[in-house]
Amino acid sequence: MTQEKLFTPFTIKNFTLKNRIGVAPMTRMSAAADSIPRQDVFDFLIRRAKKGASIVYTEAIVTDYESAQGYPGQARILTQPQIDAWKPVVKAIQKEGALAIMQMFHCGRMAWPEVNPANRSIAPSPITPKQDNPMTGVPYPVPEAMSLFDIEHVIAGFVETAKGAIEAGFDGIEIHGAHGYLINQFLSPYSNQRSDEYGGSVENRYRFAHEVIQAVHQVIPDDRLLVVRISNWGVADMEVSLFDTKEEYQELIKLFSKEPIDAISVSTYEYQQKTFGSNKNMAQLTREATDLPVMICGGIYDRVSAEDALQDADIVLSGKSLLLNSNWVEDVWADKALNRYKSEEADIAYTAEPLP
Ligand SMILES: Cc1cc2nc3c(=O)[nH]c(=O)nc-3n(C[C@H](O)[C@H](O)[C@H](O)COP(=O)(O)O)c2cc1C
Repeated sequence: MTQEKLFTPFTIKNFTLKNRIGVAPMTRMSAAADSIPRQDVFDFLIRRAKKGASIVYTEAIVTDYESAQGYPGQARILTQPQIDAWKPVVKAIQKEGALAIMQMFHCGRMAWPEVNPANRSIAPSPITPKQDNPMTGVPYPVPEAMSLFDIEHVIAGFVETAKGAIEAGFDGIEIHGAHGYLINQFLSPYSNQRSDEYGGSVENRYRFAHEVIQAVHQVIPDDRLLVVRISNWGVADMEVSLFDTKEEYQELIKLFSKEPIDAISVSTYEYQQKTFGSNKNMAQLTREATDLPVMICGGIYDRVSAEDALQDADIVLSGKSLLLNSNWVEDVWADKALNRYKSEEADIAYTAEPLP
């Protein structure tokens, strides 16, 4: 083992984490029409805090009632009952000594319009992913290119959701800029072919993210965290790199670093994978371009991989291992031989079955 960082504290702004392990954001699709997750899904999050994770992310919370939702049964934090439902969950996570961070997203062209009350699909440009929607088996609808009014309106949804999360007591807010959802769609030339000030150059494609971050920052008290998640892949057309070159990716990271954010969370399929034809992985490329704390996720499943990933990052996030093994932090601490879970095994996340 190269170093022993995983179970050491890390300070991020005014918070000191007891270790470097966080629960990655994971959508569970458990909410009924009230957009409030099932109690067992809340309990699952609290249990992860009790069992040693130092950060617990929520699932991706949908930012409006119009076009933001990408999957059935997603949650919102926009109404008083929704806020009130999260309050005891956040408190319980904090009581266990972990940070509670709300991730919020707008899915843009990945919308399944039927699950959005306004039956709309909007995106930077009227271009669909090439692959069909795996959940419906039919092509994604051609999205409407967002007008300037739409842009302002969508930003307002991020702001309202952030306000809801602050009211619910969350320690931090994450803006989901990864996985081919709306913010990522603006950043990437693959989905953004606008000719106005929101498209074209890297700076123009970055403008929407900038406006979201700035607007959200205004409503977040100084003692809370603001994080951005980024990836160069999307859940549709997975094989496509959403940025063309390492230079383009690093230019974006430099732009993010000028914002009032406290960390960048880098999402990969496989943390070690070298990217953009370079001999560096995504965490290394991110680290080179920013002084901000870096979180890394993707294929971290045991102590060796976690310590290894920390060579180029400050915090590791786990999705599947923490989803499927409630004792994962303890097992990692004990340096147990652990298996890497397959994506299909994680589908249990979407069933009504309570997870341990
Ligand atoms: C069931 C499930 C739901 C997920 N939902 C989200 C989500 O809401 N937001 C997000 O940013 N990533 C989501 N992801 C991706 C994970 O956060 C993580 O990046 C991915 O699982 C890779 O990490 P792993 O190899 O540790 O599983 C989800 C993953 C799984 C397995």
